[in-house]
Amino acid sequence: MGKFYVTTPIYYPSDNLHIGHAYTTVVADALARYHRLLGNEVYFLTGTDEHGQKIQRRAEAAGKTPQVFVDEIVDNIKALWKLLKISNDDFIRTTEPRHSEKVQRIFQRLYDQGDIYKSEYEGLYCTPCEAFWLERQLVEGKCPDCGREVEKVREESYFFRLSKYADRLMAHIEANPDFIQPVSRKNEMINNFLRPGLEDLCVSRTTFSWGIPVPFDQKHVIYVWLDALTNYITALGYPDDVGEDSLFARFWPANLHLVGKEIVRFHTIIWPIILMALDLPLPDQVFGHGWLVLDGGKMSKSKGNVIDPAVLVEKYGLDAIRYYLLREVAFGADGVYSEEALVLRINTDLANDLGNLLHRSLSMVEKFAGGIVPAPGAYGPLEEALIAEAKLTLEAVQKHMDKLEVSDALAAIFALVGRANKYIDEAAPWSLNKQGNRERLGTVLYTMVEVIRLGAVLLTPFLVETPAQIFAQLGLDTDPTAQGLEAAGKWGQYPAGTKVRKGDPLFPRIDWETEAETVKEKPAPEQPQKEAAPPAAEQEQITIDEFAKIQLRVAKVLAAEKIEGADKLLRLQVRLGSEERQIVAGIARYYQPEELVGKEIVIVANLKPAKLRGVLSQGMILAAGDGDNLALVVPEKTVGDGAEVR
Ligand code: ME8
Ligand code: MG
Repeated sequence: MGKFYVTTPIYYPSDNLHIGHAYTTVVADALARYHRLLGNEVYFLTGTDEHGQKIQRRAEAAGKTPQVFVDEIVDNIKALWKLLKISNDDFIRTTEPRHSEKVQRIFQRLYDQGDIYKSEYEGLYCTPCEAFWLERQLVEGKCPDCGREVEKVREESYFFRLSKYADRLMAHIEANPDFIQPVSRKNEMINNFLRPGLEDLCVSRTTFSWGIPVPFDQKHVIYVWLDALTNYITALGYPDDVGEDSLFARFWPANLHLVGKEIVRFHTIIWPIILMALDLPLPDQVFGHGWLVLDGGKMSKSKGNVIDPAVLVEKYGLDAIRYYLLREVAFGADGVYSEEALVLRINTDLANDLGNLLHRSLSMVEKFAGGIVPAPGAYGPLEEALIAEAKLTLEAVQKHMDKLEVSDALAAIFALVGRANKYIDEAAPWSLNKQGNRERLGTVLYTMVEVIRLGAVLLTPFLVETPAQIFAQLGLDTDPTAQGLEAAGKWGQYPAGTKVRKGDPLFPRIDWETEAETVKEKPAPEQPQKEAAPPAAEQEQITIDEFAKIQLRVAKVLAAEKIEGADKLLRLQVRLGSEERQIVAGIARYYQPEELVGKEIVIVANLKPAKLRGVLSQGMILAAGDGDNLALVVPEKTVGDGAEVR
């Protein structure tokens, strides 16, 4: 058996966390639970990143000391993970001495070996992102990551020799195609940061005090990202406890750092270089997933437009929320959070498909067999087909989980649920009962129950209450994870002769009309249908000023892929100068994703974002033609992405 070390970002306790943080953490939890089910040795780390200027300012504003301020929020964060049944093995706080003392030792070593040196820093700083920037990297004078104001800082600082390791890092990225995923993020790192050349990084500050002191120069505190990133090794005991049986020896290098796309840069440039300087192996993979956004744009603690996961759990139940987070958006892509979509998922997948399968099956076991599941007789073609499908589902789940396609793994399980419902319709146990065909009836009832058992086991990485509830209703007193996937995945494990214990429906249907009044959400804008254009002369004319409102720009396609369940749509990752966006376009019938990558196209850049099939689209591409003949509009020669079209 292997080992699996997975981490989430350590979150800033600058405010209570929202559904975006829950998203990363629930995905990490599902992966951890999945690997435990496979029998792997798992270490799952999360925690909080408690130092820095942002926290110090927030604490001042709240009239508290930073420590008191973060202690309160960290309690809430821990309570949230408990509520979401997150199965983390440790929770590291950067204010704990077990971390801060180790960070000082790491800093000292880097200084002693000449990788850190003293100089003067003059430049720009974004406090919300805790990031240094160069003038040339700003977008319209603002932070390229969050769009907020940056501040000029000038202070004596220690610097870390990133430049010294740049070539080694580039070689590592090129030799290890899985190191940065998804691929579009890898390209962004190479093109936007590595190719232009790395500057040495400022790794200490003197203008505020809330941080870990530089051990040999107490007026400096260590830069919060250097402090934070090292949590992934200090939590395992590095550098003090690295002996044979230590956590560090067992689990480092990490298999997976799961992060949001905005902090991929820190994890794939600064972090690997710290590790190289410490002569440590690099993690296998950094995966930068997309954002959950609201109709009005990115959720952020500082914007105050956040969704509290605890409120949703209270309203809809834990597994409904976990299911929605894991299923709704293809992992990696941006997605729009909406309560209406959440309710739809609950009603269709959980209530109609899964809940109903269990409920009708157990009703039939009660009605036709006195509540005792009969032993199966000979399987016929209908059973053979369903059993084959179950086996394929098991393989599909493993294949998808290995590639972090969490939502596809769930889709595969729910496809099996759908097949099981269809099987019941086709096998028609009610007719067999009428005909008095007891043997065949027994086979069908057993098959129904067994496929549900298997489904419940497959759901254990994702849903944390439902599988045990299903087992209980099936009359099983065992923990659905107890056997492990391999043994539990074999057909025929359900003990015939067991008495079922039918209970309440797993997921009662929710009446969205009633809920909608309380949350007042707009339905998602639909993609307009193309109609034949009337002759130009008959159309209303517009002024040049009206035209000027439409911002057309050249964009380069970085990546393209099909969208599961939507045959007409492609998801494009495009770049407009320093900005990257995701656009959903209805061109899948005309273009293969591969032919688009690298192309310069024209997009409407100031169209209000919309979601199509739950996937966020930040702009519209221009194409000419209709019906069978559709062509993308492209610049006649290369002008570079970001260029305006007038
Ligand atoms: O960046 N959609 O902490 P942070 C999806 N302390 N994921 C989201 C999200 C959203 N709308 N909002 C937040 C930090 N996240 C640093 C990390 S690690 C050494 C230091 C998730 O509190 C996502 O994982 O700003 C994102 O990267 C993380 O929360 C940022 O959390
Ligand atoms: Mg952030």
